[in-house]
Amino acid sequence: MKRYLKYARPYRTAFILGPVLMIAEVIGEIMLPKMMSLIINNGVAERNSGYIISMGLAMAFVAALMAICGIGAAYFSCKASVSFTSDLRQELFAKVQQFSFKNIDQFSTGSLVTRLTNDVQQLQMVVMMCLRMGLRAPGMLLGALFMAFIMNARLAVIILVVIPLLAAAIGSIMYLAYPRFTVMQKKLDAMNSGIQEALTNVRVVKSFVREDFEEERFNKANTDLQSNSLRAMKIVMATMPVMMLAMNITTLAVVWYGGNLIIGGSMQVGDLTAFTTYIVQILMSLMILSMIFLNFARAMASVKRIDEVLQAEIDLTDDKAAYKDLEVKEGRVEFKDVSFSYEDGGAAPVLEHISFVAEPGQVIGIIGSTGSGKTSLVQMIPRLYDASAGQVLVDGVDVRDYSLHHLRNGVGMVLQKNVLFSGTIEENLQWGDENATMEEIRAAADASQADGFVTSFPDGYDTDMGQGGVNVSGGQKQRLCIARALLKRPKILILDDSTSAVDTATEAKIRESFNTALKDTTKFIIAQRISSVEEADQILVLDDGRIVGMGTHQELLESCEAYQEIYYSQREKNEEVSA
Ligand code: CTP
Ligand code: MG
Repeated sequence: MKRYLKYARPYRTAFILGPVLMIAEVIGEIMLPKMMSLIINNGVAERNSGYIISMGLAMAFVAALMAICGIGAAYFSCKASVSFTSDLRQELFAKVQQFSFKNIDQFSTGSLVTRLTNDVQQLQMVVMMCLRMGLRAPGMLLGALFMAFIMNARLAVIILVVIPLLAAAIGSIMYLAYPRFTVMQKKLDAMNSGIQEALTNVRVVKSFVREDFEEERFNKANTDLQSNSLRAMKIVMATMPVMMLAMNITTLAVVWYGGNLIIGGSMQVGDLTAFTTYIVQILMSLMILSMIFLNFARAMASVKRIDEVLQAEIDLTDDKAAYKDLEVKEGRVEFKDVSFSYEDGGAAPVLEHISFVAEPGQVIGIIGSTGSGKTSLVQMIPRLYDASAGQVLVDGVDVRDYSLHHLRNGVGMVLQKNVLFSGTIEENLQWGDENATMEEIRAAADASQADGFVTSFPDGYDTDMGQGGVNVSGGQKQRLCIARALLKRPKILILDDSTSAVDTATEAKIRESFNTALKDTTKFIIAQRISSVEEADQILVLDDGRIVGMGTHQELLESCEAYQEIYYSQREKNEEVSA
């Protein structure tokens, strides 16, 4: 709870004014029935029209004041709850931005979207409700109860019988509703994740003609949500009629018993009118209370989910970094007996006992079958993941001793699954360096063999990218991603299968330009084709998480069985093609 007070603090005026004005409105509401009874008893019964007019005017004045207070209360409660949750949402977003890759693996994107939208909305609703009704309902309950007892204690006893019964009913509703709402939010998550996955990958779905399958899958998630929402709502639905029944029975009892009192001469007619109004007010406030509790139960389920995000421990931080101001200068990379697994203490490690040294300016090729751990290996250099055992050193310093900012600034990485963002090509390339001049941008694009096709577009560098870069070809996208990384002028450049969609001739040109433009940068090139790494100073051959060969192309051809295998299988294929 304390954590949330932080978000409320800037809006404390609104948080206080809302309920205060609400109380003023409630006081008026309690006064009106009493004034009405006075008019009936003293004005109507005594035929005193002067009294009726003056009391009537007083009532009108109270009613007008109430309206003003009511508007004010609604305004401030709205303002408070909307601003409060907007800040909360901002903080959640910031937190998610800090998430490490491991954190992101834990939550699905769909679930995060639901948490930042629907769950926050749920909380906003209940905060607003509490501000508007949280004090109003108990205030009205106590006030009306007090007035009823003053008017006629014997009659008021009826109410005392009803209240505990209703309280018990509300209690059991809450008890039943909470777990159902928790399930409902989870189903909503599942549905959102489904929508998110199917829509972002709609092209794949279509190319595999899986529309029917996806529709069926969505239908399942949707009906699941529907039935679970109904299960939760059923309880809410039951509340209203039960309360109404209680209210009507109580009113009847009061009128019957009060009627007898009037006939017996121990009660005035006006008092009975006021009394029935108080009964309605009491039961109404109980009903509102039960609604608040219900929504509270629902919001609690949401708060728990919001909390999971806020409390998620970011396992990869630079809090303990020993040299916060150190920047990557040389680009020397050393792995010292590194092992790694994606889950702590999980099954077989993905990488085992990896040791090698990459000197500044060297080209390191990494080759190995799919799933052998190539991506996992290089991800440890910019600390996208941390080694489970052993050390990764950059310029002789453990990567965990750099600030993440300086480390990642020194390492340019083109991810295997890469995306461009909506915006122009120029804007996308500026991710590498926001102050890059047009000349620098063109130089980087030229080195990655992108300048040619970009300038052939009618709008050139101003060409708008569709979301994720849909309007360029796979190979063009890869070249733009390389240009983006080059603009960072990194000391270490990692290309994870980044030229897989580029033809061999263009790829050779890119490698050539690296030799001149990036002479001092340590370059890691992960590739499937031997031709991509042939000229590397050092080639690492990975198999099932271990280095099974290390050396130049010639050395490996002579000594490494795994390398020979890859080499000859690719040569055979090439010969087949040319034959
Ligand atoms: N893996 C995992 N969790 C992830 C990513 C990968 O458990 N978030 C596992 C994979 O199942 C695989 C192993 O880690 O068995 C190595 O994956 P990776 O390093 O991505 O393999 P690559 O050599 O990069 O494979 P590819 O050539 O297909 O890119
Ligand atoms: Mg990979």
